[in-house]
Amino acid sequence: MVAPRRIDIFRVTMSEEAVALASSVLRSGYVGEGPMVARLESAFAQVSGTQWNAAVNSGTSALHLAMIAGGVGSGDEVITTAQTMMATSHAILMQRAVPVFADVQLHTGNIDPQDIEHRITERTRALLVVHWAGYPCDMEEIHAVARKHKLVVVEDAAHAVGARYRGAAVGSLSPLTCFSFQAIKHVCCGDGGMLSTLNAEHRERAARLRWFGIDRARRVPSILGEAEWNVTELGYKYQMNDIAAAIGVANLAHLGATLGRHREIARRYRQALASVPGITLLDSKDDRESACWLFTMLAERRVDLLRMLHAKGIAGSVVHMRIDTNDVYGGRRDDLPNLDRFTELHVSLPIHTGLSDDDVDYVIAAIKGGW
Ligand SMILES: Cc1ncc(COP(=O)(O)O)c(C=O)c1O
Repeated sequence: MVAPRRIDIFRVTMSEEAVALASSVLRSGYVGEGPMVARLESAFAQVSGTQWNAAVNSGTSALHLAMIAGGVGSGDEVITTAQTMMATSHAILMQRAVPVFADVQLHTGNIDPQDIEHRITERTRALLVVHWAGYPCDMEEIHAVARKHKLVVVEDAAHAVGARYRGAAVGSLSPLTCFSFQAIKHVCCGDGGMLSTLNAEHRERAARLRWFGIDRARRVPSILGEAEWNVTELGYKYQMNDIAAAIGVANLAHLGATLGRHREIARRYRQALASVPGITLLDSKDDRESACWLFTMLAERRVDLLRMLHAKGIAGSVVHMRIDTNDVYGGRRDDLPNLDRFTELHVSLPIHTGLSDDDVDYVIAAIKGGW
């Protein structure tokens, strides 16, 4: 009997080199924040085209440090999107600030730049945008609003490592960009994140704040055993350790191949599903290159589609539902019509480096067979 096929929506992309490099750290006698973290930061700068980088223990920590660097404080407002994972708005709450949700574009799931300006008040400090599925937001329009109202732009690029917008790498566009190296992301550290910035001072401050506020680089050694320092600002325990960094360094070397495979799978899905009744593909403009971390589309009768896929061993999912519905942010907003529609329709198909062409054809055939 042929075993039923099982196609996961995600799979961890872990290289053999990651096993070897992490093992060398485990055997080295030093596993804290050290030379491997520095190596990851400089390798990431080279591979991603970002400028100043501070590695941290999660994308969420990077977002919190970005809020601090962006000057977001108690009572401030940050205009953001609800089509994301809760980490995005949690970072705003961590600063005792208030997330203000703008609508999304129905055909990208990204924040709609046209819906930002009327939500700006004298308390607005920053715009925190998310590149849903790895497809870059309309950054030029977002920057234009930010310039006009003197707001800081922070990008949540948890899905978008390797994405490009109008020739420039995501991470080189705005003052502060946050990446996630969590288990199922393109670059896996187990858990980890990166704060990328265009400003050396932001980088220096982030390096302090990721370790209780202590400036590790300028500590003065003391015969007493503990180095001398003066902490001037509240910091956190957000540093990355060398075990996670080693996994990241090795997996980062495969980023090009990982992106290439995700993009190829996305291209196959787009070609095959463009004319399937009941499916609407999301936008794919020529001026930007998605990281294709997810393959999200809009589907009529989504629950029926998911039932059909699951019956065939294919794991479709919404991945993340709108977050404004949570009481921690004050409950569901009723002024986000595109998000309402997106919420009814969006669904993501399997996309990962473990999928063969035959698996992709199997998913396509299942959908073309109807639901
Ligand atoms: C859009 C978005 N932002 C932030 C995060 C948080 O990243 P991390 O899990 O590395 O803290 C995630 C995690 O999946 C995410 O999807």
